[in-house]
Amino acid sequence: MNHQVRIDRFRSARGDHTLVVLEGFHPLKHAIRFGAELLDVVAAEDGDLEKLVAEYAPDAAAKVAEHVRVIPADVFAKLAPVTPPTGVIAIAMRPKVSPVQMLDDQDPAPVVMLENPRNLLNIGAVIRVSAAAGAAGVLTTGPQDPWNPAAVIAATGLQYAIPVARIDSLPACHRPLVVIDPGGEPLRQGLLPSNAILAFGAEREGLSRELLARATHCVSIPMAPGVSSLNLATAVSAVLYAWRLGL
Ligand SMILES: C[S@@+](CC[C@H](N)C(=O)[O-])C[C@H]1O[C@@H](n2cnc3c(N)ncnc32)[C@H](O)[C@@H]1O
Repeated sequence: MNHQVRIDRFRSARGDHTLVVLEGFHPLKHAIRFGAELLDVVAAEDGDLEKLVAEYAPDAAAKVAEHVRVIPADVFAKLAPVTPPTGVIAIAMRPKVSPVQMLDDQDPAPVVMLENPRNLLNIGAVIRVSAAAGAAGVLTTGPQDPWNPAAVIAATGLQYAIPVARIDSLPACHRPLVVIDPGGEPLRQGLLPSNAILAFGAEREGLSRELLARATHCVSIPMAPGVSSLNLATAVSAVLYAWRLGL
């Protein structure tokens, strides 16, 4: 593939919702580990890809070797708005995710729902901790795409580890809806039901009245006097690990 064709391909992949741009080594590592279908993997000629693979992901070595093409550093620099310091960037297929299937699942693990989140780094951090804690998936509403390359960087590509999708609104389902809100009942043992949807609000506005009104439980994370709220991703981490540790 000639260099201009590749530059154009990466540019158009950013606007294609069937594809994912993986900027950097750690998103690529997790994408491979969790079964992504890779379309194009390119490394800068002056990068450290071999060393990174040997050190952090020997399990991904065969896939990287099968797909990678080494290109000049000046061409590599044109493939992303900010050049990945790890010297690798890739395009992969976006998996098809069924929110209905995710919500229908009877597994005790919770679904994390973010209502209208604004910050892509928060969205990525939420996906990362949701994958780590063993959540059933992450759903978002609002305009932000949880597969946006910036969210993929922040999640280190763990969008591939659990189902992640954007929805227009939360459909009716059998799962108990637990809203996590500073005005709720302080979190304690026994307050998080099994198989729940854990819903978190936007960074500035918090949760909408509509979602608060639909909730079966409203839970807060206790804070020291004078503190207004936690960062969105931090709040998700606290609640997910309370659930994981059996609180
Ligand atoms: C930055 S906070 C939003 C703050 C917003 N001004 C409010 O009062 O809800 C983003 C989200 O994180 C969650 N959150 C943050 N701190 C919390 C706390 N102490 N208790 C419960 N939820 C919290 C809530 O879901 C909240 O909607």
